[in-house]
Amino acid sequence: MAHPTVKSFAISNELSVSLADLVVELSKESIKSRDRFTIGLSGGSLPKLLGADLKNRKGVEWDKWEVFFCDERIVPLDHEDSNYLVCKKELFDHVPILPEKIHTIKPELASENEVKEGDEETIDAVTENYEQQLIDFFACAKSIKFPVFDLLLLGIGPDGHTCSLFPGHPLLDENILWVAYIGDSPKPPPRRVTLTLPVINHARNVAFVATGSGKQDILYQIFEVPDSNLPAQLVKPENGKLYWFLDDAASSKLTLP
Ligand code: 6PG
Repeated sequence: MAHPTVKSFAISNELSVSLADLVVELSKESIKSRDRFTIGLSGGSLPKLLGADLKNRKGVEWDKWEVFFCDERIVPLDHEDSNYLVCKKELFDHVPILPEKIHTIKPELASENEVKEGDEETIDAVTENYEQQLIDFFACAKSIKFPVFDLLLLGIGPDGHTCSLFPGHPLLDENILWVAYIGDSPKPPPRRVTLTLPVINHARNVAFVATGSGKQDILYQIFEVPDSNLPAQLVKPENGKLYWFLDDAASSKLTLP
């Protein structure tokens, strides 16, 4: 893997402009080469930072976008904890991405009662449905080992988690599944569905976005204490590029060029 590109900005607006620049550039390149742009979105603060500038960009071929989710919480898609809902409010409501090209993880496949009971079988319906959507979309004619996204946008938690992949969790060793369920997420809500590390590491581009002083210590550990085995450190796209978009509050303990 090539060295990551790390950028830090004084204010979040500047970060949003630079992030939108990258997304627009990768969208153009991908559409030129493959006639589509496959992007995976995360929850947390990312959708707002992403949408802030991107939603005002002209000339983006939104109808060629194929949107997926890096992770989702097992709550209805109109629940305030839903990653889909925050992406809708911050981006989808403002730009003409085609609704049929927004490939949601479907928590509704797990019924309310069964979710409360913690029925793994029912959760399987959610993970299997999302994996099948990915297979239908990415595998097409040839069989492939992992899907290759044009861009995955990831957040990072103060514990070093990304997607719904948490430090020390057995899911970090997953090397076959594309999509996995986690029922004991330390960050609420506890029940989630996530892309796995090999999927992330097959992407053409992966960009982390982290802002605020609450991320200082974990960023220091990620950058300056190699091999801490933090989920974010395990993100090393095999043939892709890795970007970090930080603000100065988050990056203040790092030595950046
Ligand atoms: C989620 C996210 C998660 C998030 C990080 C960072 O569903 O919780 O996808 O991975 O991106 O926890 O969240 P913040 O940006 O809010 O700190």
